[in-house]
Amino acid sequence: MIIKSSTKDYQVHIEEDFSFFESLLQADNALFVVDKKLLGLYEKELFGRIPEDKLYVIEALEENKTIETALSVCERMTEIPGKRNARLVSFGGGIVQDITGFAANILYRGIHWSFVPTTLLAACDSCIGGKTSLNYKSFKNLLGTFYPPEEIYICPRFFFTLSQRDFESGLGEVVKFNIMSGETGLERIETQMEGLLARKPEVVEEFLRTSLAFKKDFIEEDEFDRGVRIHLNFAHTFGHAFETMSRYEVPHGTAVAMGMIMADRVSLHRGVMEEDICCRAERLLKKIIHVDLEGIDWNLDEVIKAIRKDKKQIDDALTCVLLEEGMKLKVVHDLKREEIETALKEMLEVLS
Ligand SMILES: NC(=O)c1ccc[n+]([C@@H]2O[C@H](COP(=O)([O-])OP(=O)(O)OC[C@H]3O[C@@H](n4cnc5c(N)ncnc54)[C@H](O)[C@@H]3O)[C@@H](O)[C@H]2O)c1
Ligand SMILES: [Zn+2]
Repeated sequence: MIIKSSTKDYQVHIEEDFSFFESLLQADNALFVVDKKLLGLYEKELFGRIPEDKLYVIEALEENKTIETALSVCERMTEIPGKRNARLVSFGGGIVQDITGFAANILYRGIHWSFVPTTLLAACDSCIGGKTSLNYKSFKNLLGTFYPPEEIYICPRFFFTLSQRDFESGLGEVVKFNIMSGETGLERIETQMEGLLARKPEVVEEFLRTSLAFKKDFIEEDEFDRGVRIHLNFAHTFGHAFETMSRYEVPHGTAVAMGMIMADRVSLHRGVMEEDICCRAERLLKKIIHVDLEGIDWNLDEVIKAIRKDKKQIDDALTCVLLEEGMKLKVVHDLKREEIETALKEMLEVLS
């Protein structure tokens, strides 16, 4: 699959096995940035072959997704000859992606970057679209640029070692893409959900491909997120709020899955979504949301305060993306407090 971008078109390769690693190892002037947990899991099979002076290890924690880490990657790159011809090759999930994408963008005003997403979330969603984000103090994703990798290698074999929590978080985005695609998407994922949960390789690969294909249309039409791309924010207004409120105990994709229940409930009460669709979506979402609800303060004012912090909020009226008649996506700017209150109450009932 090729993704068109104004900086450079880039290729997404889906690989059966790890043989692609050979060609990455041969890259000249490369620094390999690897997720610490991943390094431990695949040291023998893969990463043990990277010379120590070409290896930079990152622990995938939100606290490490900072400008300091990105600068430290840049500093290590100064030891690599080649300068503007130097290359970052990174392996990991969204955290490693965000740090290395940012560093690759600012160093010498842009160097080569290859990315190997190893979480389901990064592979099915974040690896394309070119966004890079860093946290600053308590501000999540405050700093960011657009800088896609030159090439992306996805090997679904990596997903076997993901924890249930991280696999389910990735499924949150996968279910989202299918629900956003309307009746056909909903039906497709209903019939295949058990295979997905069992991580059946052929099923996971099918959903990997359809998720990326769905996102591709939006990011190619609106690379810099000024127009139609906002639709990809379906469920995220609420999702981002839940991530913050849980202090990132609830991972991104799971928070988005919860946000979908909220968005659908708002649509249901506005009379723009059939009850049958809403219930079918919830049946799927319940299978992938395992969250300690007691650990979060569900005070309505806290929820609204957290929603207001979302980057897509432009003024006093609350904005979100909903599914309306015929499961069509629509941006609305008139989300009301009472609607959030009802949807929240119902989401908590559905999940308890
Ligand atoms: N840039 C974007 O477009 C974009 C989009 C969505 C999310 N994000 C960001 O991505 C981050 C979340 O990304 P994520 O969910 O991929 O998580 P992550 O990078 O936090 O990784 C989750 C966990 O999985 C582990 N891991 C990675 N690969 C593994 C493997 N193959 N086997 C076992 N464990 C593995 C990591 O060590 C970590 O513990 C957030 O910071 C979010 O803001 C960025
Ligand atoms: Zn997301």
